[in-house]
Amino acid sequence: MTWTERYATGDTPWDLGGPHPELARRLAAGELDPRRSFARRALVAGCGRGYDAVALARAGWQVTAIDGVADLEPVLAPQLRSLGSEFLVADALAYAPEQPFDLVFDHTFFCAIDVAQRAAHGELTRRALRVGGLCVALVFPVGKPHSEGGPPFGFDAREFSRALGADFELLQDEPVTAPAPGRPWPERWAVWRRAR
Ligand SMILES: C[S@@+](CC[C@H](N)C(=O)[O-])C[C@H]1O[C@@H](n2cnc3c(N)ncnc32)[C@H](O)[C@@H]1O
Repeated sequence: MTWTERYATGDTPWDLGGPHPELARRLAAGELDPRRSFARRALVAGCGRGYDAVALARAGWQVTAIDGVADLEPVLAPQLRSLGSEFLVADALAYAPEQPFDLVFDHTFFCAIDVAQRAAHGELTRRALRVGGLCVALVFPVGKPHSEGGPPFGFDAREFSRALGADFELLQDEPVTAPAPGRPWPERWAVWRRAR
């Protein structure tokens, strides 16, 4: 089934109906506050219905949210536009921004793509993120064996690091304290900085 068909038939078990609770918790606690660093531009690829993108935009980020499903546009695009942000219907793995981003946020996009596409995901982040910028991922499903297939395809911060390459340093890799309800595998919060 394609992603478009999944949304059309309501087969969207990943959809939380709101931002990931760990992202919401950390934003409420003042983490990832763009006003502190003067960093403003955030990329959310594979954004789905865009709850995380909207939460980041409300926190002051100027978000570019991308998804390949055009049916998401009528609801999400106006919401983001009203917050000074944007929604693009595109293949996120082929996206080449004109201006670099300060933050790349991933929540169930890395695990949604085929394992063979992970290198392209890393290339997207390298293309998109400025030196010194942060890549933040909700790492899920942690510990799911590759032999079980997907999506979601299992991964951990080490596998994400491998896709990012040597220019990124892992700053944080810790269990979430506000997990998404009903997920059958653990989640972690991981942060990388683009060092060069
Ligand atoms: C598991 S869903 C996660 C959606 C959202 N991040 C969330 O947590 O609700 C994966 C999303 O990635 C999108 N997607 C998959 N491959 C894509 C690609 N190459 N370019 C853009 N979007 C893609 C799908 O349409 C889907 O919305």
